[in-house]
Amino acid sequence: MKKLTIGSIQKCKSARKLVMITAYDAIFARLLSESADILLVGDSLNMSFGGNPDTLSITMDQMIYHTNAVCKGAPNTFVITDMPFGSYIDEVTAFSNAMKVYRETSADAVKIEGGADKAHLVHHLTSNGIAVCGHIGLLPQAVRAEGGYKVKGKTEDEALSLIADAQALEKAGAFILVIEGVKADVATRVAMSVSIPIIGIGAGNGVDGQVLVFSDMLGLYEPFVPKFVKQYMNGAAAVKEAAANYKTEVQNRGFPSDEYIY
Ligand code: KIV
Repeated sequence: MKKLTIGSIQKCKSARKLVMITAYDAIFARLLSESADILLVGDSLNMSFGGNPDTLSITMDQMIYHTNAVCKGAPNTFVITDMPFGSYIDEVTAFSNAMKVYRETSADAVKIEGGADKAHLVHHLTSNGIAVCGHIGLLPQAVRAEGGYKVKGKTEDEALSLIADAQALEKAGAFILVIEGVKADVATRVAMSVSIPIIGIGAGNGVDGQVLVFSDMLGLYEPFVPKFVKQYMNGAAAVKEAAANYKTEVQNRGFPSDEYIY
């Protein structure tokens, strides 16, 4: 598949749904890039890969390490990398960290969480040559401040505020937005209110594309399965079965058989 550009991604808004999947390493980046338009090196890797309770403790250097792995595994796929919590608290910090991503990886864009309150940061980045994906609705980096993961868009005020967020980020130069954990009818209104693509996660079918965390989508992450996740395979059972078969054959000396011996 030919690597998409910002222009071709934006043209998809009126033409077809965009497919975004997270990836954290070269192995899965290579496999998933056959189907994904965009690979997102999400800071969710701090949870599913790193085993932490939330995304907040991941560092810039860890994001860069994983972004490099993904870019190497999928050199022909558009890659967006998450700016970690605390890495974009002001314009100078945001630009210096985004520039680090561009200098040290071949990521195509960065993603930052927040709505109209972050528009000045998005404007500063985009006007200095950084491509930015916004992220509105449920903001995982706000989990401690909000005391949990809260679905957004439950009232008309929240709906109007999400529409204002999307419009402010579009005006600031964001080329695409992720909308997470938002009532489906409200997410549809948000998508209709801007001309940039809106990629949903837990936001229904009226948006311009979907993103899922790959380990959720493959059924690999057992601790918790959110309502919006569809598991396209039972990865956990497949891995456990393979490991159990290996264990049996090691213990009964079935492995390595003659074909696996030098
Ligand atoms: O970190 C992540 O994987 C994300 C997705 C949930 C969109 O931001």
